[in-house]
Amino acid sequence: MADRRPVLFFDSGVGGLSVLGPTTALLPQAPLVYVADSAGFPYGTKSEAEIAARVPALLGRLAERYDPRLIVIACNTASTIALQHVRAALDLPIVGTVPAIKPAAETSRTRTIGVLGTAATVRQPYVDDLAARFAGDCTVLRHGSAALVELAEAKLAGETIAPEVIANELDGLFHQPGGDRIDVIVNACTHFPLLEPEMRAVAPEGVQFVDGGPGIARRVAYLTRAQSWPADLPPGRAVFTARDQRADALAPTLARYGLSRIETL
Ligand code: SIN
Repeated sequence: MADRRPVLFFDSGVGGLSVLGPTTALLPQAPLVYVADSAGFPYGTKSEAEIAARVPALLGRLAERYDPRLIVIACNTASTIALQHVRAALDLPIVGTVPAIKPAAETSRTRTIGVLGTAATVRQPYVDDLAARFAGDCTVLRHGSAALVELAEAKLAGETIAPEVIANELDGLFHQPGGDRIDVIVNACTHFPLLEPEMRAVAPEGVQFVDGGPGIARRVAYLTRAQSWPADLPPGRAVFTARDQRADALAPTLARYGLSRIETL
């Protein structure tokens, strides 16, 4: 009998769609549940203790309610802080999001990489470890931006984003000593790839952007390779943990990602 259990994507908001998109491109037959923790949004400005307590507890409830075959924590802040706690608490495969420093180091010619994430992500020792392991001969500059998270949410709700606001946020990377040498930016927050066209438009020519979405999609496909999928794909669910003011405005975007049922937890 076909396995009807969904793949559950989890983020603080709609940023995780940048991970869901490449995953459904590889696995179009996957039933989807996408959870935006709108009651806890944003994560990037919260303390580590709050995130380490909140995320495993919430994912435990969600796992009981939706019986997923696998959970993708499509949020860098939650992954870098809470992934181990979630894995210890739940008996199912959990895929986390890792800043794509390795592919950035493989790409950079100037050996100068910019890591753009939330403040909570870029200060993690985990980022130091990744830089030491995979980019030992590179200068790795970092910038934490809460504004880009909000701007990505606004864009997906249909708002137009002014180029100068994006440029101003990127200045936080490029205006650091040595920042003019950056030729690859790691989007270390799942919200940021959703703003990549806007960032490309204002970044110096030739700067490339990398993110973890395609790698996560391959990992999900690998972990589910021996599993069956339903022949009749049920409509994907977008679940908000609190009534989201923007839910109506987000509905067309969510539908484009296959999430046509919108619910509040
Ligand atoms: C946020 O809620 O601040 C963004 C979380 C993330 O994707 O790192």
